[in-house]
Amino acid sequence: MTSSRKLVTGAAPQGTNDANSAAQAVREMFTSIAPRYDLLNHLLSFNIDRVWWRRAARTFREVLSRPDARVLDLCCGTGDMTFALRRQAGKSSSHASQFLGADFSHAMLQRAFSKSVGRVTDNSKTDNSFGNKSSANGRPAMPGWIEADALNLPFPSQHFDLVTSAFGFRNLADYDAGLREIARVLRPGGQCGILDFGEPKGAIGQLYRIYFKQILPRVGTMISGVRGPYAYLPASVERFPEPEEMLERMRRAGFAEAGWTPYTFGIAGLYRGTK
Ligand SMILES: C[S@@+](CC[C@H](N)C(=O)[O-])C[C@H]1O[C@@H](n2cnc3c(N)ncnc32)[C@H](O)[C@@H]1O
Repeated sequence: MTSSRKLVTGAAPQGTNDANSAAQAVREMFTSIAPRYDLLNHLLSFNIDRVWWRRAARTFREVLSRPDARVLDLCCGTGDMTFALRRQAGKSSSHASQFLGADFSHAMLQRAFSKSVGRVTDNSKTDNSFGNKSSANGRPAMPGWIEADALNLPFPSQHFDLVTSAFGFRNLADYDAGLREIARVLRPGGQCGILDFGEPKGAIGQLYRIYFKQILPRVGTMISGVRGPYAYLPASVERFPEPEEMLERMRRAGFAEAGWTPYTFGIAGLYRGTK
């Protein structure tokens, strides 16, 4: 391990001192920005987020082309990565395939559900799952949405062919526990894809840091009307393991062929591994 940074367990928003309070703070933060999350995402990333989701989904085209692929998108938020995976699967998928998005923020999932059915959902809904996982008429399945904690998934072991997470993994209160849980629900040979922010180096890195640490938190706070989440974002990226350390953690959790592909000068990047 070459990182000089302290070995961190997981995300720790300001004011939290253990895994439970960190997870609760993360959930409250995303719930508070859910109404403006999509707008801010696209605005603050200049729409590059759409390119990243598509590119990550394309990486898994082989597994997504299987007609019976079982796919889980963790920390799915409002569902854009899940939709990108579903679109990549396209006509290959069948009634036997499964596309699930899981998140522990009810408000984020409600937006994902609204987007998938194109209508506003009933706010009084208390069920913890949304949408159909496979269609009754034999047509390809639309994504289903499940309210669940990524560190304690309500799925049997060795169930999925692909587990992804876009910009969510970094927020877990325990990264190693998160990797172990992904490995548990993947079938042998199954693939894991973690898309998350990185810290670009050199002159681009310097410019980017000015934007990411000074401009983005101000604009995010102004538009969302919530103080906190957009200051937490750069802090959480700074805290997140460097690629080399993250890959070592993946190997320790049981992933072979672990690799990292930088996106857009390393502003983001995709971790891949095979169980
Ligand atoms: C930055 S958003 C990413 C959403 C989406 N994947 C995207 O690419 O836009 C992070 C999401 O991770 C979710 N999250 C964080 N920790 C989680 C956990 N332990 N279990 C489930 N969801 C979690 C949050 O609720 C939030 O919706």
